[in-house]
Amino acid sequence: MEKLVITGKTPLKGEVVISGAKNAAVAILPATLLINGICTIENLPNISDVKLYCEILEKLGAKIKWNSPNEITIDTRNITSHIAPLETTRKFRASYYLIGALLGRCRKAQVGIPGGCNLGNRPIDQHIKGFEALGANVEVLQGNIKAKAKRLIGTSIYMDVVSVGATMNIMLAAVLAEGTTIIDNPAKEPHVVDLANFLNTMGADIRGAGTDIIKINGVKELKGNATYSIVPDQIEAGTFMLAAIASKGDITIKNCITKHLESIIAKIEELGGNVDANGDHLRVWYSKRLTKANIKTLPYPGFPTDLQPQMGVVLSQASGTSIINESIWESRFQYTDELRKMGAHVTAQGKTAVFEGVETLTGAPVNATDLRAGAALIIAGISAKGTTEIYNLNHIDRGYEEIEQKFRDLGAKIQRVSE
Ligand code: EPZ
Repeated sequence: MEKLVITGKTPLKGEVVISGAKNAAVAILPATLLINGICTIENLPNISDVKLYCEILEKLGAKIKWNSPNEITIDTRNITSHIAPLETTRKFRASYYLIGALLGRCRKAQVGIPGGCNLGNRPIDQHIKGFEALGANVEVLQGNIKAKAKRLIGTSIYMDVVSVGATMNIMLAAVLAEGTTIIDNPAKEPHVVDLANFLNTMGADIRGAGTDIIKINGVKELKGNATYSIVPDQIEAGTFMLAAIASKGDITIKNCITKHLESIIAKIEELGGNVDANGDHLRVWYSKRLTKANIKTLPYPGFPTDLQPQMGVVLSQASGTSIINESIWESRFQYTDELRKMGAHVTAQGKTAVFEGVETLTGAPVNATDLRAGAALIIAGISAKGTTEIYNLNHIDRGYEEIEQKFRDLGAKIQRVSE
């Protein structure tokens, strides 16, 4: 078993380069199944979810060549199966994109019910509604989702809830459908736009991603034969921004799209932190005690739920009483139990957490209860007095590339230790 050992009270200083976006990569990799050709993907984050996806694609018949740890060339001309390996797909949430992609490619798909972070109830009714509207028959049987269609025919689909996964999954199923599909009330996250850009680069005809209506004109084939570079990770950039102010540091974040970070910049400034944004990089620094702020998580362009725990660490040390309202995931306050072990004054009930800011946190042994909780606890450990030990690192490794090395390069005293 591995743990991270952090000696705290280190203001972060220096530069960090952001990797490709995890939540774009885990949709773009299955999207390659729609291509009858070869493509190269650059700026792939070197994380365990990407490796799992590559294993699945190889089992389905794809040929993958690693050009570097962050670049692959993938040949999907000979896909031999529509049945995704059950034991791998159950390990992570994003395996649900295999349903849309295999349905699009083979007109049938069999995928194990997806696993992933325990954030509460995670239904996929909107995905299924979309597939059925396109003409598929979908059954959930013995731990598997089975979808099949004689033909997929474009139609209008109104999303009852704004769902990142359902928007992208319907996009995958609709790209090779007959006629035009309209997705009304879609998610607008940067990774939704990135998936559309990837598919268009490979030959699809998708318009409006990032707006209130997405229009997909079905095409006969995606030929590929192109190179695509994945968008920088909005959430990784936000994680380092919040680490900078929590640690009382001064860092420059490179290879990010500052437009994607507007809601985070606004909150950091409201707290009394400083941000200087310049297109593809930004500087974030601390100059005075941070003050309380209230946060409500919302779909993009609102404040992202995937930065809520990291923001909770900042608020636990800001002066005054702050309130977070989590509107996306009902169980995303598990990290507050761990923060209390570090001396935070926080109570969480239902969708609301109340933070009475303390001067400083104190190191303690804690558990990474999910991916972003893990990132938040690293930030807590770096800003706390004394030593913090973080367990359950598999969650963190799923979504952050070389996280401890990046923090070490900023001056953090952080080591991975095998027990
Ligand atoms: C994606 O999950 C991300 N995962 C999550 O990131 C992120 O927290 C979430 O979007 C919200 O931004 C990936 O991209 C792999 P949703 P997803 O469908 O697609 C409800 C991280 O830490 N809903 O947008 O599963 C749902 O219960 C992870 O990187 C339905 O009711 O989220 C939730 O309340 C964790 N029916 C809301 O919609 C459905 O069919 C948003 O979920 C689908 C969703």
